[in-house]
Order: sequence, then C-alpha cells, then structure tokens
Amino acid sequence: MLVSAKDMLVKAKAGHYGIGHFNINNLEWTKAILLTAQENNSPAILGVSEGAGKYMCGFKTVADMVKAMVDSLEITVPIALHLDHGSYDGAKACIAAGFSSVMFDGSSLPIDENIEKTKELVDICHSKGISIEAEVGAIGGEEDGVVGMGECADPDECKKIADLGVDMLAAGIGNIHGVYPENWQGLNFEVLDAIQQQTGDMPLVLHGGTGIPEDMVKKAIDLGVSKINVNTECQLVFAAATREYIEAGKDRQGKGFDPRKLLLPGTEAIKVKVKEKMELFGSIDKA
Ligand code: 13P
Repeated sequence: MLVSAKDMLVKAKAGHYGIGHFNINNLEWTKAILLTAQENNSPAILGVSEGAGKYMCGFKTVADMVKAMVDSLEITVPIALHLDHGSYDGAKACIAAGFSSVMFDGSSLPIDENIEKTKELVDICHSKGISIEAEVGAIGGEEDGVVGMGECADPDECKKIADLGVDMLAAGIGNIHGVYPENWQGLNFEVLDAIQQQTGDMPLVLHGGTGIPEDMVKKAIDLGVSKINVNTECQLVFAAATREYIEAGKDRQGKGFDPRKLLLPGTEAIKVKVKEKMELFGSIDKA
C-alpha cells in the first residue's frame, strides 16, 4: 500500500537521517527503486514530474502501475508516490489519480499567490490523508524545461509557507538540478540554518541531489534536511550501463536484443545507485 510521506519524514527529522526521493520514468525505474527499498528495509519516495507523468501515459496510469507493483512485488516498506514540482492543476490531477503525496511548486509566483494556492492544496490534501510539499525560492538548473538560477530562499517566507501546515518544505540553498557546473559555490549552510531555525520541526527538502558531495549532504541532514531528491544520477548510470552493453556487442549475441535483457544492466545500475544513496542518507533499516 502507498502511504503519505508525512510519517516517514517526521521520523527522519527526529532521527537525523534522510529519505531518498527518486524520480521514476518507466516500469524498470519503478521496479528497481521498489526492490532496493524492500531489500534494504528502507522507506522511499517515488517522484514523478509532470513531464514523466505525461510520458508514462498520465498520472492515473502511473498510480495504478505503482500500486499494482507494490502489491505484486510484495513491498512492505513505506512507499510514497509523490508529484514532483507540480503545478496547481497537476497537483489536483494527482490527488484525483491516487498519488499519496504531492508537491505544489509555487516558487515562481509572487509570495502571496504561492501562499494562497499552497493553503488551498494543503486543505484538500489533508482531508484525504495526502502529504504535501511546498517550495520557496526556485531551485536552479533545468528540469522538464523549468530553468532557474541556484537562488537562496528567504527564511521569513519559508516560515510563512511552513505555517500553512505543509508536511515538507523545499527551499533553495544554492542547489540546482542536474549536474553541477565546475564553478558551483556549494550549498549555503548559513541560509539552511536560518531556515531551520525559523521552521523548527518542519522536514526540509533538498532538491538537486545529483552530485552534491557526501559531506555536504550529511551536513544538510544535520541541519534539518529530511528528504533528498535524486534524479539525474539514476539516469546517468542507466545510460552508462546500457551503453556498455551495446558497445560490448551484447545486443547482437543470441537474443541480447530482447528488451528484458537490453534494459537489465541499466536497471541493475539504478539499484546499486539507489542503495548507495540510502546508505549515505541513513535510511537503511528505518522502514
Ligand atoms: P537531480 O536531477 O539534480 O538529482 O535533481 C532531482 C530533483 O531535485 C527532483 O526534484
């Protein structure tokens, strides 16, 4: 059964560890993450961007696939199915489709409008037992065509949004989506500390988890981050493993062209990467 992300994040914040949010793109991705969570007795959050939702034939297809897979793979660890960077309409569509968690990303709106829409969605989500993430201060980089510049959120605005009763809060602290540029300045821990002081027990979310050095991830968790989003890193290891398979000519040996064989090395590579992240975040055996 899918669960809201609330309980797992409250426990993570109190226990000073992080829960991995791993974006999914298809059946192989989903299966890899679910199996790794189960094998390591770790909770996990499956993230779905609006673009990935479209790619997978709509949010209902995704929700039904994930629920059926949790059932048929006998997954007993807590799994949340979460909309990533949702629009107002996208959040409503995911609530209707059976997601157990949504993010409403109103970070590009004026703060008053972000507050108003977040508040409305908080009420809808909570009446249905669904958790909700809000965002203050755009996360830079490029994700599904959304481009921003690694900005830092205003801690006072973070408090205003946290006070609306959201279950987790994403706040820009210099993080960006995708591979970090050579000249990246690193996370801004002063801002993170100020946000955590303003927002207290609120589980904070670190987007752009790909390529953040391990010591920075650990420090962010110490300073109140409870959910870390990882997407690009899984895509990179999937692509590299698939490339290796094809470049070694394995698709031309026997029935190596069978998609069940062709996509296997990439799927296994995602499993290894997800386990590595669960170890780093400290979520193993926290189911
Ligand atoms: P990366 O692709 O940089 O890992 O970021 C993922 C993310 O933040 C999804 O919301």
